[in-house]
Amino acid sequence: MPDTTPMTAKARASSNIAFIKYWGNSDHTLRIPVNPSLSMNLDGLYTETTSTWTGDTSAHTLFLNGEVITEGPALKRVSGYLNDLKQRYEISGHCVVESSNNFPMGAGIASSASAFAALALSATTAAGLELPEHELSALARLGSGSASRSIPGGFVEWQVGKSHETSVASTIAPADHWDLVDVIGIVSAEHKSVGSARGHAMADTSVLQKARVASAFDRFEVCKQAVLDRDFETFASVVEMDSNVMHAVMMTSVPSLFYWQPASIGVMQAVRQWRADGLSVCYTLDAGPNVHCICAAADAQAVQTHLENIAGVTKVLTARPGGPAMLINA
Ligand code: DP6
Repeated sequence: MPDTTPMTAKARASSNIAFIKYWGNSDHTLRIPVNPSLSMNLDGLYTETTSTWTGDTSAHTLFLNGEVITEGPALKRVSGYLNDLKQRYEISGHCVVESSNNFPMGAGIASSASAFAALALSATTAAGLELPEHELSALARLGSGSASRSIPGGFVEWQVGKSHETSVASTIAPADHWDLVDVIGIVSAEHKSVGSARGHAMADTSVLQKARVASAFDRFEVCKQAVLDRDFETFASVVEMDSNVMHAVMMTSVPSLFYWQPASIGVMQAVRQWRADGLSVCYTLDAGPNVHCICAAADAQAVQTHLENIAGVTKVLTARPGGPAMLINA
């Protein structure tokens, strides 16, 4: 008799914050990016996902934060992803996916990054596969580009690559390399109206995207060296520049994508002042209004206290550099 025991695995993956941004693809289906990106995993801001392959259901099943999702874009995206995995690795049956985040979804803290990293690891492990890190990173990328960077630990680069197999992320320095803290000013915890997938597809409609991409390779190298050298001054100027350039592209896309809220600008201006006053802090924003204030650990408490006093900041989260995606006990 064939073994019909459901196969289960549970994984945890951290979100990450990009210092050099991924914005635009050369291949939208495979999510091959137009420029390399660089990020830090965020310890303590994670997705935990249990995947169970079973022959007992007629479709994939998705639970998000305890609630079953019976229709809509999230189910479609996850089901499409699982079907792709089934085909690539000849997996039979359907998957029951139970995923939960410990931070607000869709507001500029990359929930798709941690979600697809945790899903790639749990679903392939549940199917009996033991894949190397670079292959898991490529698989996570198929679900969400930034998820490729949540598979390895610490400070991570994602090289453009030329194919599915070579567009992968890897660690440039472990989590304990540099004592940085991401102090996140939450301005809105609502789900963003235009998700990144549509934004990437629109990037080329901006007259600025060509210039952004052409200059991103240099910013990537400068930022990587600044991380390796723990050179905060260089790091701060290139990180802020890269965020500003990406948001300039977003704002000048057709139709225009405008993620900033008044409080986002308030925080950015305050951060520049705090730096002028001597704190080692800089800002960066992903596809949402929340402001990630990256600072030296020694300044994190001061940055947090300042942030809490800015009008429009509803909550402050902090995260240190995080480790790789990992399996945990189901
Ligand atoms: C602005 O990885 O969320 O956060 O591949 O469509 O899921 P999809 O896009 P996603 O894009 C992230 C964009 C960003 C910058 C970054 O994290 O590099």
